[in-house]
Amino acid sequence: MKPLVVANWKMNPAGSKEASDLVRGTRDSEKAEVVICPPSCFLSLVGNIKKGAQDLFWEKEGAFTGEVSPLMLKDLGCEYVIVGHSERRKHFSETDETVNKKARAAQENGLTPIVCIGETEEEKGKAKEVLEREVAEGLKGLNSNVVLAYEPIWAIGTGNACGKEDALEMRNIIVSVLKDNFGDKFSEIPILYGGSVKSHNAGEYIKEAGFNGLLVGGASLRPEEFNKIVEEAI
Ligand code: PGA
Repeated sequence: MKPLVVANWKMNPAGSKEASDLVRGTRDSEKAEVVICPPSCFLSLVGNIKKGAQDLFWEKEGAFTGEVSPLMLKDLGCEYVIVGHSERRKHFSETDETVNKKARAAQENGLTPIVCIGETEEEKGKAKEVLEREVAEGLKGLNSNVVLAYEPIWAIGTGNACGKEDALEMRNIIVSVLKDNFGDKFSEIPILYGGSVKSHNAGEYIKEAGFNGLLVGGASLRPEEFNKIVEEAI
């Protein structure tokens, strides 16, 4: 499978001019699946590369002020949608249950959910339990058109990336949790690593820790660096 490299711009950049510049600077690749996930208001600016959203609501339409539906994302040309990012779990009280509802709604409307999981600094000692719960609850009732993104929360935006040995161990835990809970159903799904990915460590997660791709935050706002990350992932 081609490595999947996803740019999560988060709530950046400040305006459409900067967003267009970022889109222009980001290169597609024949050897990797490159996806840009900008804020929803900039989705229509992404035309040269596959795109995804950073969140969605599970209803199709109606009186839900401020929300964006899976149908709207589909209509804008999205193929993917990030679900349950730790920043949303933290700031917007998302739970395993809402994450699962969103992931199901994505699949029902032809979008591939990228379900984020990961332990906090305090949960380091019981990471397996956390991942077990997030995987079992998050993937309940889904089909295999799903991507998992392991993002240790202590590594996000900190520059303190997970070491490759620990990343490999966590990947193995995720694979065994998937098998224990769902048999072979999810044995072929891509599992991404995210958390302070830069061009100097990107290759390790794919080539040494066995991940199938990367979820890149901060570095995706620097196109040259992001393009290098894609090169390293191939
Ligand atoms: P980071 O963010 O690369 O800035 O650590 C990753 C993410 O939150 O998806």
